[in-house]
Amino acid sequence: MSGVLVTGGASGIGATTCAHLARSGYHVVVVDRNADGAGAVADAVGGTAFVADVSDPAQAESSVAAAVAAVGDLTGLVTCAGIGNLKPLEDYTDSEVDLIWRVNVTGTFNYLRSAVGHLRAAQGRLGRPTAVVTVASVSGVRPTLGEGPYAAAKAAVIALTQSAALEWAPAVRVNCVSPGFVRTPLNEVLASDPGTRESLEGRTPMQRLGTPEDVAAVVEFMLSPDAGYLTGQNIVLDGGSTLLSAQMDPVLGPLLEMFRPPPPAPPGSPDPG
Ligand code: NAI
Repeated sequence: MSGVLVTGGASGIGATTCAHLARSGYHVVVVDRNADGAGAVADAVGGTAFVADVSDPAQAESSVAAAVAAVGDLTGLVTCAGIGNLKPLEDYTDSEVDLIWRVNVTGTFNYLRSAVGHLRAAQGRLGRPTAVVTVASVSGVRPTLGEGPYAAAKAAVIALTQSAALEWAPAVRVNCVSPGFVRTPLNEVLASDPGTRESLEGRTPMQRLGTPEDVAAVVEFMLSPDAGYLTGQNIVLDGGSTLLSAQMDPVLGPLLEMFRPPPPAPPGSPDPG
């Protein structure tokens, strides 16, 4: 049986990904700092849970080793643990910026580094590439207001993914999924407000928010042998919302108007200066 370790597997996108992968026959190892949540997901999917803070290299190393002991061949890794925040750039404190970076970027790095030896070994035994999927965000590609440190961290996750893909081919494929707005506990405060939800849906060509199932399906594809030639890619899974220009965005549009130069005066009109 193929074994896959999912960080951030106790909640939201990670928990749904665990369920999806278990239904497809993977032995799923749920890693999260939330012990109760990780245990509940592991019980529900017939998997194994380990508690770890992804930002701590020693905990990453020991949870990967424990996962390998539980599953045998580690054929997949999904780095989904992440945190964000929303406020003006200049209001972020040093410790908030540090935490966002450590969980999203260092956390991803820790698991890539700890897992690669096991993924290479499994590739050698199975005779086909093993795979990693990192979870970044549409914010890492097109940041929106208030997400500065998170957007920077997710852009770093995309770059880290591409570096690992280059270094580890052909044994290990490494790809990234960058979701748009997906309703989960991370952003429930926004999604549960009907006005905000409608405005988010209205600016998405697919006319709805993403679901954890949408993301889990793409993660499963990226892990599968069907994606055997896919590596170093970032799939933006946003219902088409990044196709909209900033001018069409109901939030950013009015702001951009403020910077538009005034139209030229018609010929013959009095000189304003
Ligand atoms: P969530 O808050 O429901 O789940 C995140 C999980 O990560 C939680 O179980 C939490 O305990 C775990 N976690 C956080 N810090 C940790 C740490 N230091 N060590 C171990 N576990 C830790 O969030 P959601 O929405 O499911 O997000 C999952 C990933 O998807 C994150 O990386 C997030 O940035 C990304 N994402 C989410 C979007 C959304 O709209 N929900 C959009 C784009 C990206």
